[in-house]
Amino acid sequence: MIPLRMRRLRRTAATRALVREHHVRADALVQPLFVAERAQDCGPVASMPGIARLSLAATVDEARALHALGIGAVLLFGIPAHKDAQAASVADPEGIVQRAIRALKTELPELTVMADLCACEYTDHGQCGLLDARGDVDNDRTVDLLVRTALTYARAGVDVVAPSDMMDGRVGAIRAALDAEGFTQVAILAYSAKYASAFYGPFREAAGSSGPAIDRRTHQMDPPNLREAMREIALDVAEGADAVMIKPGLAYLDVVRAARERFDLPIAVYNVSGEYAMLHAAFERGWLERDRSIDETLTAFVRAGADIVITYFAKDWAQRHDR
Ligand code: PBG
Repeated sequence: MIPLRMRRLRRTAATRALVREHHVRADALVQPLFVAERAQDCGPVASMPGIARLSLAATVDEARALHALGIGAVLLFGIPAHKDAQAASVADPEGIVQRAIRALKTELPELTVMADLCACEYTDHGQCGLLDARGDVDNDRTVDLLVRTALTYARAGVDVVAPSDMMDGRVGAIRAALDAEGFTQVAILAYSAKYASAFYGPFREAAGSSGPAIDRRTHQMDPPNLREAMREIALDVAEGADAVMIKPGLAYLDVVRAARERFDLPIAVYNVSGEYAMLHAAFERGWLERDRSIDETLTAFVRAGADIVITYFAKDWAQRHDR
């Protein structure tokens, strides 16, 4: 028998490129951006080296640079001047995210603008919505608030709304409200399988949404569950989601793969703040090779079956690779 020699196609860089099965692409990457309403809230996020809370003007500049690098989209998070128990500023037509959407769609009409839709950055208690008498997030009142907020994003010109709250029924309610106002072209990227994860820690510093004892386990998913994720995705598809998301990424690649095998709509994965912080902590200590570790991480998402990768590494990756 002629021996099979697997190493033949690994000999040169060109041959390896020829047989490469998966590719990360800048136009499939999404860079999250934190836009702060007040100057005093702008500045670096300590646990996320290279990431900062930006002013509105700096957000537009950064988006312009990302667009020039060929990045697929930006995902906006707001740091409002005012927080209260009712998250009053989330649905303000003059709120920071609404203003950022308008500025970006005016200055960079070709750039896809996504907006995260959740109340957690707007509540003084840091929870994802309005609380009931027991202190739990009140599902249906929160859905009403999200629907009103989604409409303000749509009126500002957003391309994609991304509800990250994990309330039941929100995708259908948002879709119906958008359509009723004529925003049939605004897409919904649903955070469908969002787990109650320890890996969101640095984000909560970035977004200033870390209340004393925030427990999101009554609405976000329990980490050991895979079949439940398929049910969540199926529900959001039935309610009209245009694309679905799995979050976090690295510890949930099996969920991405299972979703890929089951569903034909676009699948996004969120390479979250803790995954970013974890790698940077190792880079700072000289324990991991920086560029290769980042590239290998992003490749894993694509290989697992994700179409869209939301990552704080998007700009870094695009700066280091030719289009
Ligand atoms: C909620 C939201 C969170 C993240 C994205 N949207 C925080 C949470 O659910 O606690 C986490 C993103 C990250 O960790 O990078 N608005």
